[in-house]
Amino acid sequence: MKKGGSIVLIIDGGGRGSALVDGYDKSKYVKKILAVPGNDMMGFNTKKPVKIYPKLKTTSIDEILEICKKENVQLVDVAQDNAIESGLVDKLTALNIPVVGPTRAAGQIEWDKGWARDFGQRYGLPQPKFKVCHSLEEGENFLKIQKNKAWFVKASGLAEGKGALPANNNDEAVERIKELSRFGEAGKVFVLEEWLCNDDGSNGEEFSLFILSDGRHYQIAGTAQDHKRVNDFDEGENTGGMGVSTPPLLMRNSLLKQIKKEIIDKTITGLIEEKRPYKGVLYLGGIVVKKKGKLVPYVIEFNARWGDPEVEAILPGLKNDLYEVSMAIVQQRLNKVKLKPDSKARVVIAGASRGYPGNYSNVKGKQIFGLEKASRIVGVKIYGAGVKVIHKKYFANGGRLFYVVGEGKNVIEARMRAYHAISLINVEGNNLHFRTDIGWRDIERLNSLR
Ligand code: AMP
Ligand code: GLY
Repeated sequence: MKKGGSIVLIIDGGGRGSALVDGYDKSKYVKKILAVPGNDMMGFNTKKPVKIYPKLKTTSIDEILEICKKENVQLVDVAQDNAIESGLVDKLTALNIPVVGPTRAAGQIEWDKGWARDFGQRYGLPQPKFKVCHSLEEGENFLKIQKNKAWFVKASGLAEGKGALPANNNDEAVERIKELSRFGEAGKVFVLEEWLCNDDGSNGEEFSLFILSDGRHYQIAGTAQDHKRVNDFDEGENTGGMGVSTPPLLMRNSLLKQIKKEIIDKTITGLIEEKRPYKGVLYLGGIVVKKKGKLVPYVIEFNARWGDPEVEAILPGLKNDLYEVSMAIVQQRLNKVKLKPDSKARVVIAGASRGYPGNYSNVKGKQIFGLEKASRIVGVKIYGAGVKVIHKKYFANGGRLFYVVGEGKNVIEARMRAYHAISLINVEGNNLHFRTDIGWRDIERLNSLR
């Protein structure tokens, strides 16, 4: 690998892509970064040139292959789920272009939730009781012979993270099945699965865990806790993620060991056995529930990519050269790399258009103030997503607009920094929405120790 000589292409347009740009910007091997489609803030505070292709989609395969040839790209990082489903990685691999990201077959673990549950059953992963269904009738017949309880009804295909519908009882589950038509093709096959909860009926605690795998070896890159509901106190609709804290205090070594043994080892070897070796970032969305006084981890889902906004918290904390790590994945020598996470805590707050995840069309085009000032605070980073930049002015152009990352020696300090920074930002007409309680679980834990 030659220092300072490589051109990297990132396939993503959101905050996740912005965090990857930042990661490759710090690499001593990279001289230029390209992104499809990218976003206008990707060059925000970078040292290296960043070129975006806003007219393309993450699934514009022919155009992406053309860019690789024309720009002499040395590494493609495929970070977005629909690009993986489209088979982009397979096409790049066939042309010998180095690529981080799973093949379509390995990525089925995300884009086909029914397949993923069947896979989980074949390899004995801890997961809820489930049934993959192909019609309303099949779902109804299954529910008729079940005890009345709470379920999740999930579109099997990709649904922008919104395809899981909660149902409090069997009748509600039938209603939710009827609503799946709004996901089109993605909801034609669906999974009915038991709502996992603690013995006392309360909700378990979720975590996001990120595995780097080269198809032979794996390493854990980090863990985080997402806050998926749109409002404080975990109320309101599910979103792509309103904020993250890392590392979660829940993740004690003993629990991590258990997760490795019961979930990750079996998943990575299972995928190898099924001739779908996984190369790239594998995201375990898990839940821990209390059963008879013990913490028991279960698989909620796998994603074939970094989480957004989890990656905005985890990547800045990895002291490794990202290009080196990515090339180790490509060349299947991840066992030779020692990941070096720093010891800081990080809190990410998503700044969203008021109305998100519902209708926020009246916010589009409104000016965003304070981003530059906020980004100058020590220990704070800002990653753009749905922002349009015109003559150095910033305008709302999406649901989740940007992410503010605060770091600190613990979650309390990290959170203080992040909230200080976001307090300097607003969207014209008071149209900025963000949660004010990111990290609340660990803050409560720390406060209870005082
Ligand atoms: P998903 O789209 O599969 O990530 O689900 C969205 C959210 O629904 C998760 O973050 C959990 O909060 C919840 N969820 C999904 N499946 C289950 C389950 N089987 N038991 C408990 N909660 C679940
Ligand atoms: N933050 C959740 C996701 O990326 O799916």
